[in-house]
Amino acid sequence: MALRGDSAFAPDWARTLVDPLAFAHEQRCLSYVWTFLGFTDDVEKDGDWFRASLATRSVFVQRFGTELKGFENVCAHRFYPLRTKDKGNGPIVCGFHHWRYDHDGSAIGIPKCQENFGTVSRALGARLNPIEIATCGTLVFGRFPASGKRCSLADFLGPGFPILATLSRSPHKPLALSHELAANWKLGLQITFDDYHTVAVHPTTFGKTGYLDREKLTYARFGAHSALINSDRPQVFEELSAACADGSFRPTCYCILQILPNFLVALFRSDRDIFQCCIQQFVPVAHNRSLLRAWVYPAPFPVEGPWHARLWRHASDLVRNRLVQHYSRRVIREDNTICESVQAVAHQIERPPYLAALEERIGWFEQSYRQLVAEGQDVLANIPERTDGRPAAGNVLT
Ligand code: FES
Ligand SMILES: [Fe+2]
Repeated sequence: MALRGDSAFAPDWARTLVDPLAFAHEQRCLSYVWTFLGFTDDVEKDGDWFRASLATRSVFVQRFGTELKGFENVCAHRFYPLRTKDKGNGPIVCGFHHWRYDHDGSAIGIPKCQENFGTVSRALGARLNPIEIATCGTLVFGRFPASGKRCSLADFLGPGFPILATLSRSPHKPLALSHELAANWKLGLQITFDDYHTVAVHPTTFGKTGYLDREKLTYARFGAHSALINSDRPQVFEELSAACADGSFRPTCYCILQILPNFLVALFRSDRDIFQCCIQQFVPVAHNRSLLRAWVYPAPFPVEGPWHARLWRHASDLVRNRLVQHYSRRVIREDNTICESVQAVAHQIERPPYLAALEERIGWFEQSYRQLVAEGQDVLANIPERTDGRPAAGNVLT
């Protein structure tokens, strides 16, 4: 059953792939959506921080005691980036003129403040733009603040929350991969929703067994997000969520959860009853460029069985993990090549695609994406005009 994607796709859906202004507007709108930024492991100790990208804007997350705080990575003085490395530890002190900020992002130590600004540091009222931070398991998410009632991260993820929380708890340091992709972030993401391309694109890995049988797969949609589970039990997604919530979940089949706007977690079998996790994020960089960040690690479940089976498992993990890394890199490379080729002709796309039954979730993604962009547009429309020429705190996108 082939479907035209007309109902999900706008006729000009590819504009953001070729038009920098359309891309910038899309990213402004999506900056208000909960977006994966990094891992709690990187901000374990007081003062730890990491830098990330939130809808193309540089931000950083920092631990202050028991709290995680996030700020746009731009000094209030003359806009120098406060964090110029990927991660570190220490107070917020700008490298340009040494302005120092506290845990609320207020400038509390401005060198020669009285002489230069005619007042004391606190009275100047300069502060960093804050971002909202929330966690799910070891995953740190952020978004720019906006007025009005907004959903919590738990509400945004819905039944996906306990699944992500469970799968993110890796006992081992994940293997981190990153690839620059000469293609729009949505092309990178679309191929992860596509269960139709494996025979043509991955002939030596997934494609060996032929086309997937749609009847034997469950596609579940929850809020803006979706999942594929390699099982035909009708309630399998709800069962998965409940089992993760009560701690009884043990993997038995392949599944993948795609969380809008640009994040996914997959659970896959690497050997008989042994599973691995793969987290991926397509970070938008420009209309025609993105950064794929990926982490691969053994699924966080206890090894069951007699002692010799557990011992063998630990010994064989070394070899298995290497093979998983090798195949993960290959699959990512094969997908990226396809995305970059589509990007090269993106200016010729003038209509929605045909969507196969095995591509149904691409249509779901596009619908949810349009909804989130529309909600962001509403936020932008409701930001009051300022009269003093300075951005309102938290409303930096005006
Ligand atoms: S730009 Fe940061 S202190 Fe001047
Ligand atoms: Fe693929």
